Amino acid sequence: MKIVKTIEEVRRQVKEWRAEGLTVGLVPTMGYLHEGHASLIEASHRDNDRTVVSDFVNPMQFGPTEDLETYPRDLDRDAALAEEHGCDLIFNPEPDEMYRDGFSSFVDMTVLTEELCGLSRPVHFRGVCTVVTKLFNIVKPDRAYFGKKDAQQLAVIKHMVEDLNMDLEIIGCPIVREADGLAKSSRNTYLSAEERQQALVLSKAIKLGAELVRDGERDCGRIIKSMTEKINSCSAAKIDYVKIVDEKTMQQISTIDRPALCAIAVYIGKTRLIDNFFTSDL
Ligand code: PAF
Repeated sequence: MKIVKTIEEVRRQVKEWRAEGLTVGLVPTMGYLHEGHASLIEASHRDNDRTVVSDFVNPMQFGPTEDLETYPRDLDRDAALAEEHGCDLIFNPEPDEMYRDGFSSFVDMTVLTEELCGLSRPVHFRGVCTVVTKLFNIVKPDRAYFGKKDAQQLAVIKHMVEDLNMDLEIIGCPIVREADGLAKSSRNTYLSAEERQQALVLSKAIKLGAELVRDGERDCGRIIKSMTEKINSCSAAKIDYVKIVDEKTMQQISTIDRPALCAIAVYIGKTRLIDNFFTSDL
């Protein structure tokens, strides 16, 4: 496995693979890889001849008061995990390799970004769409892999690919959880031992919501109320949102009469965590 820092090196390598008739999968990440990322790398390794993992903490998708500076980074650890799960090339650029002086072009999206994380993180999806478009243009993958934990991101990227006629397939992979239910996230490292315990309220609320839907409940208000009560039973938890939206448009619905996403964002102390379930997965 190679680690490269420049766009030119990625292009040279991918061109060689293409000349041999090989297919290429891309797993975009911000590094500090965990088993969730490992499952994406494995899926790409299974579906494609070669797998590229991008490892880049993208400044453009962080708001001014967010955790860009403290976001965890460890390239050596990432390289070991990525190689073990079938990565062939890590692209680990510096910010000025991705955003040259005078950078002034952006990819943005309306509607799907108006709810959920888009409301509390106003610049986030413009940063995600822009960097993901750049990565697609640099790597030109056949397929790209994203986790369902970032459900809105997955919907936004699928929509962007359709809107802009990008020639690749987007694959969404299941959430990977710790043994006790907490969804894997690089941000879990911010939690103290006590907060780590309190953070379980997210997966418990998700489990409760999913059970209600599985048992036939279709009224979003009632599902949200039960989940909200569950989260509020933990004094350390502060709700950002508990919402149910149409799986494709990300617009709120009042009845589950179509494929839907139930998503939550909750602060445990200073750490904002997200979790969700898709009704189509139940
Ligand atoms: O999901 C992430 O880690 C990031 O948002 C992504 C897709 C790598 C873009 O920076």
